[in-house]
Amino acid sequence: MILDEFFQLALELIEAAEKHEQYRGAECINLIASEGLKSPAVREMLRLSMDLESRYAEGENDLAGHVKKRFYQGQRYITIIEDCVTDLMKNLFRCSWGDVRLVSGTHANLATFKGLSMTTKNQKMVVCPLSCGAHISHDYTGLAGRVLGLVNIDHAYNIEEMNIDPERSASIIRAAKPGIVTFGGSLFLFPHPVEELRAVAEEVGAYIVYDAAHVFGLIAGGLFQDPLREGADFITSSTHKTFPGPQGGVILADVKDSRMEKAVKNVQYAVFPLSTSNTHLGRLPALGIAALEMKLFGEDLAKQTVRNAQAAGEFLYENGVKVLGESKGFTESHQIAADVREYGGGKKVAEDLEAANIILNRNLLPYDDQNNRENPSGIRIGFQD
Ligand SMILES: Cc1ncc(COP(=O)(O)O)c(C=O)c1O
Repeated sequence: MILDEFFQLALELIEAAEKHEQYRGAECINLIASEGLKSPAVREMLRLSMDLESRYAEGENDLAGHVKKRFYQGQRYITIIEDCVTDLMKNLFRCSWGDVRLVSGTHANLATFKGLSMTTKNQKMVVCPLSCGAHISHDYTGLAGRVLGLVNIDHAYNIEEMNIDPERSASIIRAAKPGIVTFGGSLFLFPHPVEELRAVAEEVGAYIVYDAAHVFGLIAGGLFQDPLREGADFITSSTHKTFPGPQGGVILADVKDSRMEKAVKNVQYAVFPLSTSNTHLGRLPALGIAALEMKLFGEDLAKQTVRNAQAAGEFLYENGVKVLGESKGFTESHQIAADVREYGGGKKVAEDLEAANIILNRNLLPYDDQNNRENPSGIRIGFQD
């Protein structure tokens, strides 16, 4: 490539980046449920953390989640930063251990699933099917199956309730004897029955992982459900959906006995050295600021987010759109789901709305064939932005 063409490409890149900021930042209505909003303080903290963007902090942490050992010099302030953010997150979610080194929610799942399968020496995981809300990282077609070699066994799902069926899932867990039982998901309207299934998970020796990626900000605000108190052993999450932080991931747990100590040590080993080198340090101060803001304003933010989703569900339903979960008030989270087959299906509706600068995504619904990801029946609409 001659130099002129190289410059041309770079100019195109700069122009697209500028235009993107205007397009999605100012001209669109953003309704993708997995995206989020950052406050001015979080944005400013990101801007002020540019040097961290270039640094490394490889090493081990202790059972409080604090820095224990680092392999590079120059860590004087990086260690303080990481420990402070870990403590802010632990405090906000009321638990004794956290790891903020994960660069995404998928990474948090990778490390947790890997650490737990090492602990239990059991490759079976009970999880929702994709069409009932699981994230691809939980699925046999994604990270869980293709990277980690886990074997999925489906939770029983009640389409009327838009939720896991606790009684039938209990029988499945009892019969399958998995090492991990997973809750949480990407299509996530109502709290999952963690409390109802904790005893059976314990009975078969499984760890409960609650993937809070979508509802992390709602939990921080005291809404939706309280997974750690209900019986989850681990929370995995993104930090940028309903939780208004920078893009990243986190794992949280209570290290209350030797069973959890063993599991946390393996999960930490799966974080480092198994799956990280640099940990995207530039996001950490901003994550801490988001935690502080959630401590102060999280309840109001969460309540308003859910109110917005419920009001939108009601409005669309009254105007003839088949919004799911009508008998239960459409949602208790930040998102609603609608069956749009009569308008041409999820793909067409999402593309038509995109033409009007309304940005959302097509979505599988629980009665869809999970291989039909191209044109599923539904759309999912989120209200946290
Ligand atoms: C339930 C769930 N878990 C994990 C993830 C992955 O998060 P990330 O994009 O941070 O890797 C998502 C993404 O939307 C999700 O919906």
